[in-house]
Amino acid sequence: MLDLDLVRPRFPALAETGPTGEPLVHADAPGGTQAVDAAIEAMAGHLRAGTANQHGTFAVSRRTDLLVDTVREQLAGFLGTEAEGVVFGPNMTTLTIHLARSLDVQLGANDTIVCTQLDHDANVSPWLALAARTGTTVRFVELDPRTGRLDPASLEDVVDERTRVIAFPGASNALGTVVDPAPFVAAARAVDAWTVMDGVHTVPHLAVDRHALGVDVMLCSAYKFYGPHAGILAADPQLLTALTPERLRPAPDEGPERWQTGTASFESIAGIGGAVAYLAGLGMDVVAEHEHTLTARFLDGIETLDDVTLHGPPEATQRTPTFAVTVAGHTPNAVAQHLADRGINVWAGHYYAIEPMYVLGLLEHGGAVRIGFAHYHGVTDVDRVIAALAELSS
Ligand SMILES: Cc1ncc(COP(=O)(O)O)c(C=O)c1O
Repeated sequence: MLDLDLVRPRFPALAETGPTGEPLVHADAPGGTQAVDAAIEAMAGHLRAGTANQHGTFAVSRRTDLLVDTVREQLAGFLGTEAEGVVFGPNMTTLTIHLARSLDVQLGANDTIVCTQLDHDANVSPWLALAARTGTTVRFVELDPRTGRLDPASLEDVVDERTRVIAFPGASNALGTVVDPAPFVAAARAVDAWTVMDGVHTVPHLAVDRHALGVDVMLCSAYKFYGPHAGILAADPQLLTALTPERLRPAPDEGPERWQTGTASFESIAGIGGAVAYLAGLGMDVVAEHEHTLTARFLDGIETLDDVTLHGPPEATQRTPTFAVTVAGHTPNAVAQHLADRGINVWAGHYYAIEPMYVLGLLEHGGAVRIGFAHYHGVTDVDRVIAALAELSS
């Protein structure tokens, strides 16, 4: 059982109060979570102790080497991947663009790339751009707007012998849908394609094991799991060796650093280490169990609100505590403002998930309000959101 009295003090930002005098409800977790003390202290500690670039002869530089190696090992354990396949970058989007660019020389007009209608655009646009450069065709696995889930039959329709890459989400940052990677991995293996899983919305909510899932490349962002603004690419090291990233001539020509452009943010890497240590200590199963309680509470709550429509999976299983809702008679922006006035922070719009928003028919209408909880929320936070929505519902 997760003990909120122990968890919440670990997040200094949660102490801030809003316009009502109550603590802010940061229900914008899918857009970025608050940082845990372990991450904040690791970042400050790195800078305070003295920083230097890697691979020097002097002790401060060797300390940076040790830091980077240690955090790679931590991530290997946390994400079920090899330390040699862990690449750091500024964010997931930049890393995905970089990865896609490395395929410029591998793909051609006879190949296809498979994307999905459930993805954040960071796992779509880089593949569309690759296709535009190489003449490759992009095909989409369809989202069923009634269930908020990808249609498995449509995966079979779009994958064939010409498919080289299958890009899919671990979970939707818009609808909260959790996606089973197994059919994507099986389809890719059958035709010798690579899988690229966007794990940005998965890693904060569920235990992830890249190896066990059989995914070739997985990407995530530390600022969505209580760490600093930084991205992580976790890949099969053999795949990284087989591809040729754009790089400077003197840059390392082997290992994950071959994939990193310029100097890494060592303070961010320190912070990632702090966030991973915190989550590993807490246990992702404990996080998932607690978040399931929040999910069930929210779903029960909105059932009672006639004017509020949930877009996405209505059931509490196979989903994260992320909910896209619209309120009859109020624009998403107006609802977000109403909640902000009550100390509840949420996003309104498409949150870069333009494919699902289009399929749901919401893109042209201001998108939806996204309410996203994290493990540091309690049922009282959920109840405050429901009460604030109830004020808008007849
Ligand atoms: C599911 C998902 N994928 C990718 C991204 C892009 O991540 P980053 O901001 O690290 O580029 C986001 C950010 O909101 C996201 O939610």
